[in-house]
Amino acid sequence: MLTAYDYPTALALDESGIDVVLVGDSVGTNVLGYESEQQVTVDDMVHHTKAVRRGVRNAFVLTDLPYASYETPEQAVKTSRRLRDAGADGVKVEGPIPDIIRAIKQLDIPVCNHLGMMPQTQHNAAVQGKTFLAAKALVEQCGESEAAGSDMFVLELIPRQLAQIVTEKVNIPTIGIGAGPYATGQVLVVNDIVGITRKAMRHTARYAEFAADLRAAATEYKEAVQQGSFPGPSNSTSMDAHELSLLQEWLAAK
Ligand code: KIV
Repeated sequence: MLTAYDYPTALALDESGIDVVLVGDSVGTNVLGYESEQQVTVDDMVHHTKAVRRGVRNAFVLTDLPYASYETPEQAVKTSRRLRDAGADGVKVEGPIPDIIRAIKQLDIPVCNHLGMMPQTQHNAAVQGKTFLAAKALVEQCGESEAAGSDMFVLELIPRQLAQIVTEKVNIPTIGIGAGPYATGQVLVVNDIVGITRKAMRHTARYAEFAADLRAAATEYKEAVQQGSFPGPSNSTSMDAHELSLLQEWLAAK
């Protein structure tokens, strides 16, 4: 699973054979320049889900319900319906909220439950479930969530042993991020893996340097324009000589 927020990225991920494209509410900080996930609106998620949907043919499109858009079962159903209508195959919600999950399942839409570090409400990106009591709470939350109808977990920033225990205990896929190798699958933020994100983070990987390449391309373009090497003869068209002479005659007669 990888995040995507726009059409060309979705197209590339789908062509790569990625199984799940996540329209994460990380769109807020990664694309929209917001300070936190809490500023992301349902309208934002609808807009970006539609763009991603246009680029995806084969992958499963999973979309986040943004902060404060699923505080009651009624609100959760309403928001999920909007995102499904925008093109989401399934929705993701954060936190131990079995009643909300049960309500969304009435729509017959797959639900992914995000547990461990939950960016919508926790801002310090600290590893969760490190103590016996915290780990026990997470195991119990996963059991309740699965019983409520969850179809998948995203487990963020938990110790690898805890991810392994949960993965062995539940009957639905676990997708880890900063949770070690024993989850059923893995998810990362696309901006992180292609080098758009500036900050280096332990849990991620970097396979390209898009921001550096973009800076270099912009610099090269600016220099080429200033030096007159761009645009060259092949970058524009030439007017037919006869048509040009007619234009020049008309101008001279004015
Ligand atoms: O919004 C997001 O990008 C996410 C991932 C970190 C799983 O929820």
